[in-house]
Parts: sequence; structure tokens; C-alpha cells
Amino acid sequence: MTHWWRHAAIYQIYVRSFADGDGDGTGDLAGVRNRLPYLRELGVDALWFTPWYTSPMADGGYDVADYRDIDPLFGTLAEAERLVEEAHTHGLRVLVDLVPNHCSDQHHWFQEALAAGPGSAARERFWFLPGRGESGELPPNDWHSYFGGSAWTRITEADGTPGPWYLHMFAPQQPDLNWEHPEVRAEFEDILHFWLRRGVDGFRIDVAHGLAKKPGLPDVGPDPDPTDLPYQDHDDVHDIYRSWRKILDGYPGDRIFVGEVWLPSAEQFARYLRPDELHSAFNFDFLCSSWEPAALRDVVDSTLAAHGPVGAPPTWVLSNHDTIRHVTRYGRADTSFDMGDKRLGDPSDLTLGRRRARAAALLTMALPGGVYIYQGDELGLPEVQDLPDAVLQDPTFLRSGGADRGRDGCRIPLPWQPGGAALGFSPDAATAAPWLPQPADWAPLSVAEQTADPDSFLTLYRTALALRSARLTALPETLTWVDTPPDTLCFDRAGGFRCLVNATDTPVPLPPDATVLLSSAPLEESAEGRVLPADSTVWLDMN
Ligand code: NOJ
Repeated sequence: MTHWWRHAAIYQIYVRSFADGDGDGTGDLAGVRNRLPYLRELGVDALWFTPWYTSPMADGGYDVADYRDIDPLFGTLAEAERLVEEAHTHGLRVLVDLVPNHCSDQHHWFQEALAAGPGSAARERFWFLPGRGESGELPPNDWHSYFGGSAWTRITEADGTPGPWYLHMFAPQQPDLNWEHPEVRAEFEDILHFWLRRGVDGFRIDVAHGLAKKPGLPDVGPDPDPTDLPYQDHDDVHDIYRSWRKILDGYPGDRIFVGEVWLPSAEQFARYLRPDELHSAFNFDFLCSSWEPAALRDVVDSTLAAHGPVGAPPTWVLSNHDTIRHVTRYGRADTSFDMGDKRLGDPSDLTLGRRRARAAALLTMALPGGVYIYQGDELGLPEVQDLPDAVLQDPTFLRSGGADRGRDGCRIPLPWQPGGAALGFSPDAATAAPWLPQPADWAPLSVAEQTADPDSFLTLYRTALALRSARLTALPETLTWVDTPPDTLCFDRAGGFRCLVNATDTPVPLPPDATVLLSSAPLEESAEGRVLPADSTVWLDMN
């Protein structure tokens, strides 16, 4: 029997925006518990919860103040325990988000470090360094925060004198932990045990490439080699994952680590997936690829080539809570994605984007390996690009001085009903509006409307996931490319299964004897027989 995670469909729950159980306008664990039947019926194997821990929410929960408790906005620890049990009853595994690169500035370790004063042991758990310049007025090195601006913030000591600087690769409210410190390592090993004992099936590791820094924290310099940056992918990080893997393997069940690994080279990426490290990692090369057959084929090939030698299953992901939703991306003139330049506001033809997103869903689900679905992908939700400044909450908006409008547009609360409080996101007795406003025209995208529609996005996802389980997940993790007209992608899996993607703007003929299993758009008839219309995918049985 193959391991479940080699071919799993994993659904990402951005807790704040999934379902609001208590009516305060923010999604919570009660909301998720109510919707477990929906997730089971969708046909996914596992749920990944974005951070649900105690947090001041400076970065939507990726600023953790207590790794062993649940934020009151979301519920209680007892409720999380019940949720894990109930998910298991529904046949759904549970992955929690581990945020080890940094904690919140409200975490008791950081508060202690601030209070303990210069040279104290409490400061050793972080990166406190003296500034450069005559009176330490310049940051210790030239590193930039991923959210914009310097990666350093200077503190003021209790007596009012200017103190050292501390490192934060993200927002100032997210101080980086010093992974050279044995207490940091011991603490996270204990956190792993804490959640493993509560029955979770694994962890998604935030910024998995970033924990270890190059000793001495040297400057990046003016013309850096992107494969050799001092703040990421330092070799010591692999020791951390080897020790974590031993802990995980000591628990019964088939539990896993999934890494958030953003690195420029496939060789660097694959090292995280060696047999004694992480089980899998998100395939961001695929997410960033344009909707062009040659680019897609290249990324499929390079993915398979990188994963093969380390024996890890590839994964396929189209969107997450940090990216522009792919319905919107695929409707733009440039369909690629660049985290550093999201081009929010670029015009998008959403009819075209939806069509391609449906085709892309069938492509990802036909490929060997695992697939990630970000909540709302199954509803075909677009990016919301016109949120007013006043409602934006993502720190990237403020840190970039508004140049980057941030990631709020892919985090809009889900529409469950065509009417009611926040389109069914909140209960009818809700006391507050949703934490981000939903567009006025989202009623037809709601779960209830789409459930009733055989041609909806949701029906396509449900049907595809069921077929994938029945036909594909037990197959060898290989594919064979089939020669087809330029601008189409065609591959065979074992058992006579064929996937044909037409990314051109004209129809392509179908093999005459094939049986159609599922198509992302209605097939058309021509004088030569059945054809697959533009920007569509079909699954065929060639037996
Ligand atoms: C990656 C997470 O996906 C993102 O949402 C977060 O802002 C950063 N890591 C920092 O934790």
C-alpha cells in the first residue's frame, strides 16, 4: 500500500475566512466543525489549517505568541482537540501550521528579552546585534525584510537609551528566532510532541528554508547570487529537519511534514525532501508558471526530475493565501505569478480565467503526486482587487508604503449561501460584519448555488476528486508524454488513463475511440468528430 501523502488531495483552510461559527465576523474552529461534512463530500484527504495559535494577528496568525494554545478569536484548545477527532471521524487527516522561523513580539521569550536588558541570556534566543555607524544608528547588516524595508528594528532600553537592533525577516512584530540556540531547538521539539500527542497527522512548516542563517550574518552585498543568500537555505537547516523527522517517525500512523520552501534552484529544493527530512513541499514553480503549454510542460518535467532522485512525491498547487487567485491570474495578459510583483489591478478577463482555472484543476489532479486546494479554489473565486485602503490588514501593504496592496484579496470570507449574514459565512444572528467585505456579486459563487448546478466549479471539483481517487491515486507515480499538436499537453498514466490539455485558442480533435471521463468544458462536434475547445482539459479512458 502506498503512503496516503504521496497522492493526497490536501485542502488549505485559512481559518479566519472559512466559516464563522460564533457570529463575530471572523472564521473559527466552530465554523470549521460545522462544515466538516462539506469537506468530506468534496472528497479531499486532509486539511491544512493556517496558524490557529494565540496571536496578536499582526500577520494573520503567522506571529505566534503561544504555540500551545488557540487564539480566543478562533476558539479553545479543547475545541481544537475535538476538531481533530471529528475530522478523523469524517476520514480527514489534519495538518497544523508550524511557524519556527519567528514568533510574535508578544511571545513571552521576546518580552523577557526586552526586559532582561543588554547582554542577557534571554536575548540570545533572538538576533540582537549592535548597530553600525558611530553610535549604532545603522542596522547591523543590509538585509531586507520580505515585507519591505530593513530586516532590523532598533529597540529602546528600559532607561530610554537607544539599544541594539533585532532581526525580523518579516514584520517587526515577528522577531526571528536564533536557531543556533539549544533552547530554541528544544522548545520546537517539545511543540512537535505537544501537537503529535493531540493526534495531528503532520505539520506544514512555514519558511522552511529560512531557519538557519549564515554564521556572522554577513551582508548580502550589491549583486547577490540568488542561490547563495545568507538568510536562507543554510546547510544547518537540514540537521533540524533530520531531528524532527526522528520525532515524527516515533509516533504511530503515517504522519508528515510539508515544507514551504521557496528557493530558486530545484537542486536546493530537493535537498529538503531527502528520505530523512521532509516528506513533501509545495511546488511553487508550478504555481508561478504561466498558462502556456511549453512552460507548463517544462515545469512538470523539471518537477518530476527534481523529485525522482530523492524519492519524494511531486505536489501541484495553483493558489494559496499569499498569492493572487489563479482565476484572476489566468485571465490576465501575463498569466505568470511573481511574489515580488503581484500586479494587483492588472486587468483580467475572468471568463477566460475561470475557463483556464477549470482546465488547470483537471491538469493538476491528473498528474502523479499530491495536490493542494486552497479554500475557494473549488468555487472558482477570483482575487478581490478593489478592496478600499481602510479595510486592508496585510502588513505588506503598510510596510511597502502602499506599493504592494498585499494579500487580503485572496483571503475574503467564503460565500456559503446566496443570502444571509455575509453570504452564509456568519450565522444569521451575527453581531459583526465579516472581517473583510465580500464583493456584492458573489452570491452565485456560493456553495449552495454551486451545489445545485451540474456545470459549476464545485461540481467539477467534486467529480474530479472522486474520479481521481477511483482511477489515479493507486497508479505508479509516472506519466508518458504523448505527441499532440503544438500548444497542447497530453500524457498517459497507467491503466489507459489519458489527460489532454488544450491551451490554444482553437479546438483540437479528440482521439476517435476514447471514452470521455470528464472535461472542464463541454466538448464540441466538428465535421471530423469530437473536439476539445480552447483552454480546456479532458480526461479520457483509452482502453
Ligand atoms: C509564509 C506564510 O504563508 C505567510 O502568510 C507569512 O506571512 C510568512 N510565511 C511569514 O510567516
